[in-house]
Amino acid sequence: MDCGRHNAPVTRCRIAANSSPRKVVRILLRWFAAHARDLPWRRTRDPYSIWISEVMLQQTQVATVIPYYERWLRSLPTVCALATAAPQRVLKLWEGLGYYTRARNLHAAARHIVAQRDGRFPDALDELLKLPGVGRYTAGAVASIAFNQPAPILDGNVTRVLTRLHGIAEDPRGKMTSARLWQLAQGLVSVAAEPNPVPRIRGMVLSGSCSALNQSLMELGALVCTPRAPRCGECPLRGFCVAHRTGRAGELPCAAPRARVVQKRVVAFVLERRGRFLLRQRPAGGVNAGLWEFPTAELSGNRTPAAAARSQFGAATEVEPLIVLRHSITSQRISLHAVRVHCNGDAVLPAGRWCTGKALRTLPLARAHRRVAERLSATPA
Ligand code: ADE
Repeated sequence: MDCGRHNAPVTRCRIAANSSPRKVVRILLRWFAAHARDLPWRRTRDPYSIWISEVMLQQTQVATVIPYYERWLRSLPTVCALATAAPQRVLKLWEGLGYYTRARNLHAAARHIVAQRDGRFPDALDELLKLPGVGRYTAGAVASIAFNQPAPILDGNVTRVLTRLHGIAEDPRGKMTSARLWQLAQGLVSVAAEPNPVPRIRGMVLSGSCSALNQSLMELGALVCTPRAPRCGECPLRGFCVAHRTGRAGELPCAAPRARVVQKRVVAFVLERRGRFLLRQRPAGGVNAGLWEFPTAELSGNRTPAAAARSQFGAATEVEPLIVLRHSITSQRISLHAVRVHCNGDAVLPAGRWCTGKALRTLPLARAHRRVAERLSATPA
């Protein structure tokens, strides 16, 4: 399917003019040697470290990931250390990164590697694909970056580079187009597997040219072939790029239709008893499973947080506003109204755990609730 946003007739080119994969690979390897960022996961060939970095980098920016990655590897330096860690410790190390299923899958996969493979990290694509949470992208990234195997990768950055290079106007999420993009990525990494000078890059530990090629595609997408205002003037592939030649770099790849945004108002009740605060653990299987939070209730219509508190804990309840936060979960835009609640002894309170201030700091909390806790510790009772 074409995006339908444009009607230029030049978009059906199957192959970018002059784009011999050999030339493209040579240019990319040379460009990467000169422009690669010095990132902590590029200073190792350890498959465990590379796997952790690749999972963290899904849905999260490089600058955010760096301190998480470094702290994780200090705390859990091996697959064995991760396999034997308590689930709450794993979630705490992930706290703030979001999409916590990633952390639970890392934990489950580490347990699998220790239990089924005696702790040996798989190097074959089909074995990597058996690990919980490991799909084609992550398997390809670990196989190529850690083991220099000619396995392709296709993430958002690589998709952008390839759709523009080849002038592919169809939706990259479509089955046929996605298959074609994987094939193009495979073509390039297979060429990189032929004898090639391995780029020598200061500070970087490269397993070989397949690793360098895949990382160069991601790096070009991150630094030059950017989603908005691509820097075509600086691009080493501009001479081969169909989108550049036809003036359509900014239009490709075809954008996903926007999900309908839902607005939601939620109140978080901060209940205190003898210096302890009431927290609940999110149930297994749902959003933020295993994390802790202050009890919440959705606010319907124009209902105020105070009215919700009084209907839940009694008419005499005193309510003190703490903070209003706006955050998003998938397509929901949530405004979270945190209030301190002082209720009398007869109030029926939600089930949960009464936590000290110290426990509040050490338990894994979802990001918005962490901010409520921080505000709480900065606000006198
Ligand atoms: N994004 C995903 N993987 C990456 C990597 N290895 N380096 C930089 N950005 C990335």
